[in-house]
Amino acid sequence: MELTEAIFQRHSYRGAYADRPVPREHLRQIMEAGLAAPSGCNKQTTFLIGVDDRALLRDLLDIMDPPACATAPAAILVLTRRRIAYTDGNGVPRCYAVQDYAAAIENMLLTVTALGYASCWIEGHITDADEQGRRMAERLNVPAEYELICILPVGVPLDDMKLPRKRDFSQRACFNGWSITPF
Ligand SMILES: Cc1cc2nc3c(=O)[nH]c(=O)nc-3n(C[C@H](O)[C@H](O)[C@H](O)COP(=O)(O)O)c2cc1C
Repeated sequence: MELTEAIFQRHSYRGAYADRPVPREHLRQIMEAGLAAPSGCNKQTTFLIGVDDRALLRDLLDIMDPPACATAPAAILVLTRRRIAYTDGNGVPRCYAVQDYAAAIENMLLTVTALGYASCWIEGHITDADEQGRRMAERLNVPAEYELICILPVGVPLDDMKLPRKRDFSQRACFNGWSITPF
């Protein structure tokens, strides 16, 4: 699939998945695309755990409340280590961990799409007061300095993709100076 085709075909999928395993090489290909993303000062603050063991995946998905992607045959867990990238001229430490993992996640979502799978960036409830991410990390023996921030289910979709409404180009982008129509 062409890159631009994957960009425009990618959408968040929240339906059921086929009961069909994701080959390890596909999972690895998706994870390698995530690790290929840029990172601030090349600090490479994003870490990934692929899960294709059904029993383990079930344990992890059981932690999710509200339930999500319950039928996914595989998932990629995204972790960050919030390292300082550099200290600016005012002595303020700058951390780009969020930007780093966002870039990695988008690369993975595009590769998921290009390989004919579906996924969804699931971050809500993972890092908030529910601490579902921390409980998943404990189940996976993740050291304390790594924060589990997102789960990406991976699988063959059974349902149609529901397309969200996106604003018109002119409401969010323009050329040569601000001429955006506010919404
Ligand atoms: C930072 C971030 C967190 C998100 N968290 C969730 C989530 O917890 N659950 C969910 O169903 N979708 C989540 N999404 C997906 C968005 O809801 C989705 O991208 C948006 O509605 C636009 O739809 P699209 O992805 O199909 O273009 C998240 C997306 C981002 C970028």
